Amino acid sequence: MTDRARIVASPGRDVAGSIQVPGDKSISHRALILGALAEGETVIRGFLPGEDCVATLKALRQLGVAIDDSDPECIRVRGAGLTGLQAPAEVLDLGNSGTGMRLLAGVLAGQAFESELTGDESLRSRPMERVAAPLGRMGARIISSGGYPPLHIQGGALKPLFYESPVASAQVKSAVLLAGLYADGTTRVEEPGVTRDHTERMLQTFGADVMCGDRAAEVRGPARLTATEIGVPGDFSSAAFALAAGCLSSKGPVEITGVGINPTRTGLLEILKLMGADIAITDVATLGSEPIATLTVNPAALKGTEIPPELVPLAIDELPLVFALAACAGGETRVTGAKELRHKESDRIAIMAMGLSSLGIEVDEWPDGLSVKGGRLRGGTVNSAGDHRVAMAFSIAAMCARDTIEILDTANVATSFPGYVPLMQSIGLQLAEG
Ligand code: S3P
Repeated sequence: MTDRARIVASPGRDVAGSIQVPGDKSISHRALILGALAEGETVIRGFLPGEDCVATLKALRQLGVAIDDSDPECIRVRGAGLTGLQAPAEVLDLGNSGTGMRLLAGVLAGQAFESELTGDESLRSRPMERVAAPLGRMGARIISSGGYPPLHIQGGALKPLFYESPVASAQVKSAVLLAGLYADGTTRVEEPGVTRDHTERMLQTFGADVMCGDRAAEVRGPARLTATEIGVPGDFSSAAFALAAGCLSSKGPVEITGVGINPTRTGLLEILKLMGADIAITDVATLGSEPIATLTVNPAALKGTEIPPELVPLAIDELPLVFALAACAGGETRVTGAKELRHKESDRIAIMAMGLSSLGIEVDEWPDGLSVKGGRLRGGTVNSAGDHRVAMAFSIAAMCARDTIEILDTANVATSFPGYVPLMQSIGLQLAEG
């Protein structure tokens, strides 16, 4: 499938208004999974009904968890308790979702039954050894197809693990911590960089014994989770596109309310500041264990910059957008230390480099990054390679292009940002779907 849907993005910088973005994808996955493992009924408000989270929801149902999603604004998960999951009759299909597959692998490692996880073509090309190796050391037997899905998991009694992860990945950290809920003793994960800490925060809310430190987290098992209410903030990674549009606007301001501003997620704010953006953070509050705020952005002339590598894991999902903004900024922007981008829903370095250069932008590609020289994009056709964030990034860059940009293979925008096109149209973006 190469061009299942497309977005036609026309130039235009007359962008302004106030919006709310859909719920956070990472937090929605975790709320479902922890709710499923808890005792009692967990209520999730503001759940993201995107395809990725729906795939996790369906997989949990296949594991015997009763989930009522008849009111999408208020999902009810009847927890099975830590040991109450049932062997699935069929293969669990996580679609496009790396988070769903890797986090569930951690849970399934602790079960006394066998299961098999698969996904779409993109997910089947994403590395799984990074979770299979530590979960194997804890005692699970995981067979993959040369390090890639499908994953066959024979769970069992797990031992606690002290794991020094070679990769800064919240999915790896979370998989090991979730498995650690089943082990007798303390499981600790240390990481080479700071990654999103939603799992640790939410485990605390569900009553687990968790400790968070600098690039480290621990959980004590065997745990007992108690059902709770989870409010899901607006997804910062979705708000990012509106923030970027506000920077490039000639009108402004653009306001996004109720957005999660967990500091392990907001590296883009620092990057935009370095590029000269004008962003105000107001109405700071907390929603459960997560900070939220209103972000207001005014137009600004962006300038190229060298992105400090320590910001990379804190802005990992926003880097395609940073490349797109760099194309519209004055001067050169350089991102290094980002080789993880090659293992996302697409090889985000290669796909962004290819698309931007086909639109007349000068880029220089390295194994772990990209430099982009700002210029005037011409119109044309780019392929998003089925990557939701790449597709949305090009739709923002089009604001400053000379002519219309047609973006192919965009159906997966619905994995993280259902309703993207109409919401962005409502603040003035010149987008059409078809
Ligand atoms: C996520 C972690 C990140 C991120 C992904 C969501 C999560 O992946 O890119 O979109 O919810 O834990 P990695 O763990 O591979 O860095």
